Amino acid sequence: MVLKYDFAILSALVEATVAITANAGTLSTADSHPWRAAGPHDNSSYWFDELKNTLDVMQSEPFWNGTYWPDTIQWIGAFLNTLVAASERSFASALEAGDGASSGAHIPPGSNQAEIAKYYSDVRAYFDTEDVIQIFDAAYDDAQWVVLEWLEAIRFIYQHDDYASSAQGKADIARFAHRAHIFYNIVQDQFNTSLCEGGITWNPTLAPYKNAITNELFLSSSIAMYLYYPGDNDTDPYPSPAYTNATNTTLPALPPLAAHDPVLLDNAIREYSWFQHHNFTNDQGLVVDGFHVSEGQTTCDERNEMVYTYNQGVLLSGLRQLWEATGDIQYLIDGYAFVETVINATGWYTGPSPSGEEEGEEAGQWAGLGRKGIMEDYCDAPANCSQDNQIFKGIYFHHLDLFCEALPTRTPLIEGVTFTASPDLAAEHAGKCRGYLPWIRHNARAALATRNDAGVVGGWWGAGFVGKSQQAWPAYAVPKPEGSIDEKNEEWVLGEAPWKCHGWHCQAGRQGRRAGGLVGGNLMRARSHRKRDVNDQGRGRTVETQGSGVGVVKAAYNVGRID
Ligand SMILES: *[C@@H]1O[C@H](CO)[C@@H](O)[C@H](O)[C@H]1NC(C)=O
Ligand SMILES: *[C@@H]1O[C@H](CO)[C@@H](O)[C@H](O)[C@H]1NC(C)=O
Ligand SMILES: *[C@@H]1O[C@H](CO)[C@@H](O)[C@H](O)[C@H]1NC(C)=O
Ligand SMILES: *[C@@H]1O[C@H](CO)[C@@H](O)[C@H](O)[C@H]1NC(C)=O
Ligand SMILES: *[C@@H]1O[C@H](CO)[C@@H](O)[C@H](O)[C@H]1NC(C)=O
Ligand SMILES: *[C@@H]1O[C@H](CO)[C@@H](O)[C@H](O)[C@H]1NC(C)=O
Ligand SMILES: *[C@@H]1O[C@H](CO)[C@@H](O)[C@H](O)[C@H]1NC(C)=O
Ligand SMILES: *[C@@H]1O[C@H](CO)[C@@H](O)[C@H](O)[C@H]1NC(C)=O
Ligand SMILES: *[C@@H]1O[C@H](CO)[C@@H](O)[C@H](O)[C@H]1NC(C)=O
Repeated sequence: MVLKYDFAILSALVEATVAITANAGTLSTADSHPWRAAGPHDNSSYWFDELKNTLDVMQSEPFWNGTYWPDTIQWIGAFLNTLVAASERSFASALEAGDGASSGAHIPPGSNQAEIAKYYSDVRAYFDTEDVIQIFDAAYDDAQWVVLEWLEAIRFIYQHDDYASSAQGKADIARFAHRAHIFYNIVQDQFNTSLCEGGITWNPTLAPYKNAITNELFLSSSIAMYLYYPGDNDTDPYPSPAYTNATNTTLPALPPLAAHDPVLLDNAIREYSWFQHHNFTNDQGLVVDGFHVSEGQTTCDERNEMVYTYNQGVLLSGLRQLWEATGDIQYLIDGYAFVETVINATGWYTGPSPSGEEEGEEAGQWAGLGRKGIMEDYCDAPANCSQDNQIFKGIYFHHLDLFCEALPTRTPLIEGVTFTASPDLAAEHAGKCRGYLPWIRHNARAALATRNDAGVVGGWWGAGFVGKSQQAWPAYAVPKPEGSIDEKNEEWVLGEAPWKCHGWHCQAGRQGRRAGGLVGGNLMRARSHRKRDVNDQGRGRTVETQGSGVGVVKAAYNVGRID
């Protein structure tokens, strides 16, 4: 049975699921989706504890060296630090709401404050260890992860101060803002209409490739700059005082950029409009990876049909914030459609086999981006994800979490600049996001179920399909979309057509600079000798798979707190 996508039906199912799971740890086979079996854990304090647990593992696992994660690459480090800062906002919200206080046993009074101070010092420590020289000269997507990272830290500082009158972090705002400014400046004027009528190319040292991630980031980083960046007049253009010596390069002065500069809003609007008019979605509505421009052409005429989870996510925070800046609900409506397409593409609505067996065959079929309601990238089941790809699902859920933040009804974020929602609109948004919650928690439970003895989350959340003791299950690898090149996992293709630079619209002279950041350290390694379960295969459990766990558990907690 295939259910139509209908929120009335969804709500009924949700209620049924909750009612059943409240009694027992397993679902009755009478439920039309037995594989949605949950745990008894459906309250905020459970998810709050799990957020703390997964974050604690990410920050204290000795192998990852606390706040520095020497094994990761710079753009992922920027995202991991974003997750820490965003978790800080969750802890601050929990403190405001008194969560944890009510759960008694788990959370001693005052521990949120201690947690907040501890993780804030991690965020701050990363400011100094971040390899800004390397990432400054990486590709146009890399720079924007750094922008989002420091804006998230600034959001935390303001939020915590508003509630707790805490001076914590106040003295850091100016330097965090300056770093966001320096990195935004790299992309600020890169929207270029000479090819494809607009958009930003991924990497100036490769043949022009206007890809989803760089352009979604430009939407999301531009609008987040518009809303949360406090302004910066420091004209020092160098990401680090050591930059000139390290690169033998001097840079022009950085132009001051004021808070809420209209150019930031214009960039976001123009970017999303371009994105919409250049069909980035496939038959299913999933966002594909990007477009090449054939030699001698000026239009985006060569589409790469590859589908990755993170490309479905980064635009969501941008759409939420575009609504806030313009009051135009179409941005939210588009966002709901993107989310619902993804939920559908995990097979969440696929019924069990007609024979009614518990292991529904249809539900187990690949639905475009997962199966049995669990999100997967193509590389997850065969355990051949690159380092980049291991963090993608965490990025998806982090941006979904931001999208679902409650709409302000009483006071605008910025008087005279941003909009408030009518009570009806706020309720509708909350209702939509509550509708996503069973699916989000289904994914979070699947992720948590992959933890090993050290509490480290695995990369293939669907591993429960096979026995934990078994080796990777070749039958679970599915063919990639027709017309796709999986350049995130097959990086050697970047040395070949159509990626390689042939001097046409690319800066061949810069090879080894921006390109270096892209490829460096990102090769797949067979790391684990202990092939204990499917999630120890390939790169195995890493700080990236753990980060993806933090991302989904954070969403399971935050979206569950919406009222
Ligand atoms: C929340 O769930 C946890 C874990 O299942 C349970 O121990 C706790 O009693 C529950 N708390 C409330 C307030 O229901
Ligand atoms: C982590 O790495 C940094 C930078 O290399 C080093 O200074 C620090 O001592 C390390 N910390 C731990 C706990 O290993
Ligand atoms: C930057 O300079 C302008 C003009 O002097 C001033 O209004 C603004 O407050 C300054 N911004 C910051 C962040 O210092
Ligand atoms: C840059 O190199 C010069 C010459 O070796 C040295 O004097 C200077 O201290 C270095 N500057 C920084 C910031 O490392
Ligand atoms: C640094 O750049 C200058 C000017 O372009 C050049 O003369 C010099 O040889 C370069 N030094 C190194 C170490 O590359
Ligand atoms: C975008 O492309 C997909 C795949 O070719 C197609 O199914 C869809 O109809 C197109 N959408 C628009 C709006 O053109
Ligand atoms: C979800 O998938 C079903 C079955 O493939 C399809 O009929 C339906 O239109 C899809 N809905 C969305 C929102 O993609
Ligand atoms: C991963 O393994 C699957 C199944 O063997 C294969 O189809 C796919 O091409 C592999 N991908 C990479 C990046 O090696
Ligand atoms: C826009 O792209 C074209 C073609 O690659 C290039 O020649 C031009 O310099 C770019 N413009 C800007 C402002 O970067």
